[in-house]
Amino acid sequence: MRQPLVAGNWKLNGSLASTKELLAGIKAGLAEVVNAEVAVCPPYIFIPEAQAQLAGSSVAWGGQNLSAETSGAFTGEISASMLRDFGCKYVLVGHSERRTLYGEDSALVAKKFAAAKEAGLIPILCVGEALEERQQGITEDIVAGQLATVIDQSGITALDGAVIAYEPVWAIGTGMTATPEQAQAVHAYIRSQLAQHDNAIAGDMRILYGGSMKPENAVELLAQDDIDGGLIGGAALNAENFLSICKAAN
Ligand code: 13P
Repeated sequence: MRQPLVAGNWKLNGSLASTKELLAGIKAGLAEVVNAEVAVCPPYIFIPEAQAQLAGSSVAWGGQNLSAETSGAFTGEISASMLRDFGCKYVLVGHSERRTLYGEDSALVAKKFAAAKEAGLIPILCVGEALEERQQGITEDIVAGQLATVIDQSGITALDGAVIAYEPVWAIGTGMTATPEQAQAVHAYIRSQLAQHDNAIAGDMRILYGGSMKPENAVELLAQDDIDGGLIGGAALNAENFLSICKAAN
């Protein structure tokens, strides 16, 4: 049985005051979230606040990004071990905003994935196609390529215990959600790709859906066989909405 995971990606949002409030709001509603695991990924600078408020609760926290390097002259970077120092369990790797806005290619994403594993973080590897790629009918090729770079670099066993998030780029922040059927088809495809290397790892892999998931569409998406949770952007910035998605994953 795969335990559902609902993770909030807060992106570049919030102040210290609003972060405190959001964390408190999530904590207050946790009693109703029975089966799903819950995690939040605040901006780096608010991670200590998440640690202070969430330590001892059932909510995990993580980074939205990490450096591929471990230390040295890399101004502005944060390493995997620094995230571990602040109790992070998860880290997003290869989010489409990192790939498109910050030029992270698959080779760098694979290096970051390896750095996360090395430090004992659980990478949430984000994959997904752009609108024109879907229109060209090459969604599977794109996703397979994104997975393959990581498998080639680290080996399939590195994916044991990791998490994959399928986030169609055209659905992120657009209000345009993939239909449950569209999402399920890609999730099943991802699992089949993993199964070509290792059946057990494929069967255990939690594959999250991300892209305009909200309380109104979460139940239907999460009911799909191969959708094991969600990576939530906008709707994770409101405790009530986020908790409602967590409950839908119960
Ligand atoms: P939205 O939920 O705002 O579409 O963002 C999804 C996402 O990018 C999560 O990583």
